[in-house]
Amino acid sequence: TDKEMETRITAIKTTLGDDLFIPCHHYQKDEVIQFADASGDSLQLAQVSAKQSASVIVFCGVHFMAETADILSKDNQHVILPDLRAGCSMADMANDQQTNEAWQVLQAIFGDTILPLTYVNSTASIKAFVGRNGGATVTSSNAKNMVKWALEQKQRLLFLPDQHLGRNTAYELGIKLKEMAVWDPIHRKLEYDGDYQQIKVILWKGHCSVHENFTVQNIAQVRKEHPNMKIIVHPECSHEVVQKSDDAGSTKYIIETIERAGSGTEWAIGTEMNLVNRIRKNHPNKKIISLNPYMCPCLTMNRIDLPHLLWVLEEVELGKMCNRIKVEKNMAMDAKIALDRMLQLS
Ligand code: 13P
Ligand code: SF4
Repeated sequence: TDKEMETRITAIKTTLGDDLFIPCHHYQKDEVIQFADASGDSLQLAQVSAKQSASVIVFCGVHFMAETADILSKDNQHVILPDLRAGCSMADMANDQQTNEAWQVLQAIFGDTILPLTYVNSTASIKAFVGRNGGATVTSSNAKNMVKWALEQKQRLLFLPDQHLGRNTAYELGIKLKEMAVWDPIHRKLEYDGDYQQIKVILWKGHCSVHENFTVQNIAQVRKEHPNMKIIVHPECSHEVVQKSDDAGSTKYIIETIERAGSGTEWAIGTEMNLVNRIRKNHPNKKIISLNPYMCPCLTMNRIDLPHLLWVLEEVELGKMCNRIKVEKNMAMDAKIALDRMLQLS
């Protein structure tokens, strides 16, 4: 039963003590979050992982987050992902071959005037590519600062792999939509109507399959049915949705904004279902709904559950490191350059 699994997990945590560290992303299920030694958004989890000395880090999040924890950890630390199928569809939208192809074409057009940036929601090899080429990683908490920094280094930037976070962030910094082009990795072409010299930001044509489910129709519906309700969304939502909302920000920003809001306020939230449900439970004095009434689960995040967590912990207790995430050494070194640039600027 769940109760028995919880009792076993608690006992193993007690036995392993400081040798074990369990970071959990805000999108994890409550049944998992209850065992978190730290919970947070992507930036907080990267920062906390970099400071860890526990010999085993059981990462409750998705594959790219566990890779990041491994890159930032020391050689004697082991990072474990409770279910190896916990990937991220957005991270899978930019692979090595596609990125090299794009870079060749873009270099041929723009020469040495582009800096690559990648959202942390990307594979270690994309982070390594960015690190090798002078760029940095970004998260939704620091994207604005990082885009500003990139445009101080070079005339233009390539933003991988989420077109929406890239577009929303650049727009907030005053860059016009007509100064942004889109790189389509499937058809290997730059989508842009006009003089290429005007381009400041090249957006990789990737997106989050969870956040694309929040639409302008959902917004219209909420405005009609709940005229006093404020709408807050994650910047992985489309530009139209962010523009029509009242506010946008990372998971940490969404949590803090609703914490600060007064009793009796009403909120429609455009982000993953587990987090929306948790915020609702933590604020019984506020009216909280999901912007999309069908809710939007991140199916891969949700693959981490009690049975998987217990299984890997039992193996650790027996001295076995199953589901270990280990990034190849040279790749990890280059990716760390990109992550360190971000962590220094954050
Ligand atoms: P943040 O927690 O950094 O806002 O990221 C959201 C997300 O999609 C993680 O995969
Ligand atoms: Fe990836 Fe979207 Fe899930 Fe985040 S919510 S892990 S970006 S698929």
